[in-house]
Amino acid sequence: MLLHRVRGCFFLFEAVVVLFQIPPSLKHLKIHLSSRHCQTSESSLSEATFVNLSSPTCLSRTTAAPGAMADPWQRAYDFAVEVARKAGAEIRKAGESEIRVMTKSSTVDLVTKTDERVEKIIIDSLKEEFGNDTYGFIGEESVAKGIPCILTDKPTWIIDPVDGTTNFVHGFPFVAVSIAFAVKKRLEFGVVYSCLEDKMYKARRGKGAFCDDERIQVSDVKDIHKSIIISEHGTDRSPEKVTKIFSTMQRILCIPVHGLRGSGTAATNMCLVACGAVEAFFEIGIHCWDIAAGAVIVTEAGGMLLDVDGGPFDLMSRRMVSANNEVIANRIIKEIEIFPAERDDAVIKK
Ligand code: IPD
Repeated sequence: MLLHRVRGCFFLFEAVVVLFQIPPSLKHLKIHLSSRHCQTSESSLSEATFVNLSSPTCLSRTTAAPGAMADPWQRAYDFAVEVARKAGAEIRKAGESEIRVMTKSSTVDLVTKTDERVEKIIIDSLKEEFGNDTYGFIGEESVAKGIPCILTDKPTWIIDPVDGTTNFVHGFPFVAVSIAFAVKKRLEFGVVYSCLEDKMYKARRGKGAFCDDERIQVSDVKDIHKSIIISEHGTDRSPEKVTKIFSTMQRILCIPVHGLRGSGTAATNMCLVACGAVEAFFEIGIHCWDIAAGAVIVTEAGGMLLDVDGGPFDLMSRRMVSANNEVIANRIIKEIEIFPAERDDAVIKK
């Protein structure tokens, strides 16, 4: 049933939410838009660009000399793509049968048996391929069950098996598998499989970002008035926070910008920044597993990440602005009304 709705609808909120059916022509438009930013294929790259972490969880982009050392994590990267595809197939299959919904932190923070099963499939596959001991794992559902969310120097997989669980439950056609890999707290690669659209976004540090093997790049728009911005409502329904979220959205909309959007999955939102479909995505309340893979994809596509207060991006802080460039990022930051969100690693900091 879910699959029948895949070709479907688009989420637009400008105070109200409007659903559109995407006509076949729009599908071609999307393809055209991605190819507008498509420069070369993965195999024809000659120059490497690096994503560095100047602080443990902060990303920046520099250019490396040609012939720089080969990426030692190639096998892990290739395997992550394979596993994401397998997980996505599992999600599509599950969407055709009855979906059992449970809740986590609140009545709107949903989880399904599929989230749990798919996370197990991903982690078991990675352990089987690479062994049990060498790697750390941060998985959304494992953390929900009480496993601490600790990013150490150990090579660590950061996994969101079903990003966009609410979409999945409702048949809203954007759901992604997100797998990132960090070594010494530096993100090495990220894979986001938008499994209902069947689009595979991926990026390795220093090697560019790709969608289905075509290189992608952020938009070059610097004028905020010509931008589309993405944000989300998140899963916290306390009136004070919701008021700040809507107030921020109103302020940004009235700059004015061309539009506000939200796909319902943070990972996909970041890929939309990376391929130039929108200029920026920001949110307070997201988790590291929602954005780790997207963080590599955005920066490798030429974009940037900042904290919502304009400081350096921090993967564990649960707040982020990802944008095509600094001008757009800083203009949005001026309008964001910040509210507190407990860090992902808060438990170990206490
Ligand atoms: C959610 C999605 C959503 C974002 C929430 C996330 P989940 O992830 O990414 O877009 O607004 O903050 O929690 O729970 O579907 O994996």
